[in-house]
Amino acid sequence: MIKIKNRSLVSITDYTKDEILRILDIAEGFEEDQRQKILRDYVIATLFFEPSTRTRLSFESAVQYLGGSIVGFASPDVTSVTKGETLKDTILTVSNYSDLIVMRNPMDGSARYASEVSPVPIINAGDGANQHPTQCLLDLYSIRKTQGSLDNIHIAMVGDLKYGRTVHSLVQALSLWNTTFHFVSPESLKMPSSVKTWVKKAGLEYHQYTDFMEVMPKADILYMTRIQGERFPDPLEYEKVKNAYVLDNSMLETSKDNLRILHPLPRVNELNEDVDGNPKAYYFQQAKNGVYVRQALIAAILGLK
Ligand code: CP
Repeated sequence: MIKIKNRSLVSITDYTKDEILRILDIAEGFEEDQRQKILRDYVIATLFFEPSTRTRLSFESAVQYLGGSIVGFASPDVTSVTKGETLKDTILTVSNYSDLIVMRNPMDGSARYASEVSPVPIINAGDGANQHPTQCLLDLYSIRKTQGSLDNIHIAMVGDLKYGRTVHSLVQALSLWNTTFHFVSPESLKMPSSVKTWVKKAGLEYHQYTDFMEVMPKADILYMTRIQGERFPDPLEYEKVKNAYVLDNSMLETSKDNLRILHPLPRVNELNEDVDGNPKAYYFQQAKNGVYVRQALIAAILGLK
């Protein structure tokens, strides 16, 4: 049974396969007609305790295309958090001013906690290195759109598989389909065992590599990630791996015709700008798909679709 209305989205594992597909189907409708004014009487709060360009602005863009209003902040520096206000008090206060709260917070587990104390639904816009479920939904949308299906995909995930929350959510979600995973990372940034366990439990295969070029002829999707310097406890460890994988156009020669390159962005230096003109580059369209998917999610949680 599909039940999205009034529910928080904290982890992509909160949703069943059918619920995920429902959001993707609604998002297709918004791609066809983005300016449906269904949020005219609604206020959405965006609370960003951590920097963001795409997630915050695409949520705000989604609300505004739907005719809704936004309250919120892009940094806690301008809020009473600086005076010592707790997350619980912040959430309880903002829930008085809005119908739904979108929150990014650097603390793993903060979104789950917020959902437990909040009287209005919470959408997790990223909690530490833990989960980024709305990025996951737009990644799934982008994979389905470019490959025609979510089944039988070979996906190569490259870079920081330890701290990159987007890949953790995406592995869990794609484990609902018949996916083959190829994990490419430095030894120190391998996919955590807890995430690999999802793949094993689903009876699927994963392969681990340190050599980027080994996966190139196999992949349908190349999911590049940034090495997350801000999450390293030791800056010297970051220096050792920060240039581990840099994709340039010449490296794509052995790739399949249907390959598409995704990246949650922002990029640092792992995607050379000469890739941008390659028809296999899909990351800016992927970011655009985020607006349709976030429109769909908001509409479904508010019971409007
Ligand atoms: N992909 C993503 O989460 O980007 P931002 O950090 O800019 O929101």
